Amino acid sequence: MKVVIGCDHAAYRLKQTIKKHLIDKGLEVQDVGAFSESSVDYPDIGMKVASKISNGFYDRGILLCGTGLGMSMVANRFVNVRAALCNDLFSAVMSRRHNDSNILVLGGRVIGDALGLEIVDAWIETPFEAGRHQRRLDQFDKLGNGDS
Ligand code: RB5
Repeated sequence: MKVVIGCDHAAYRLKQTIKKHLIDKGLEVQDVGAFSESSVDYPDIGMKVASKISNGFYDRGILLCGTGLGMSMVANRFVNVRAALCNDLFSAVMSRRHNDSNILVLGGRVIGDALGLEIVDAWIETPFEAGRHQRRLDQFDKLGNGDS
């Protein structure tokens, strides 16, 4: 599995921990930054990861900022991106089973390392259930600018 990961300064430490964990598990990981705790703007990084997922260059993406909110807002503007902000295990598992999430978003100021790694492992390993959930995802193609 090819994974692209990115963060802002607020989640740099957790990103480093997750990146090492994924590499140790044998996954191919592309890190698009940030590369230090110096302040950066989360949209710049969120766009890099989301565009790579949107274009099919990577299987999955992981984005982190302080809360996860800004990164998820940015990522979900991209076609084909289903970014799920999951600071708990249940949401992470369900985002795979029912939503086929392709970007996991985490809040580095919300969760600790141990929970973060548990969420990442569950999210990587949980398959999409398809069936009625695929039918619902297919309806995303009809989404426009809010008009019904
Ligand atoms: C940075 O201070 C913070 O605003 C950012 O990491 C994120 O939480 C935004 O949603």
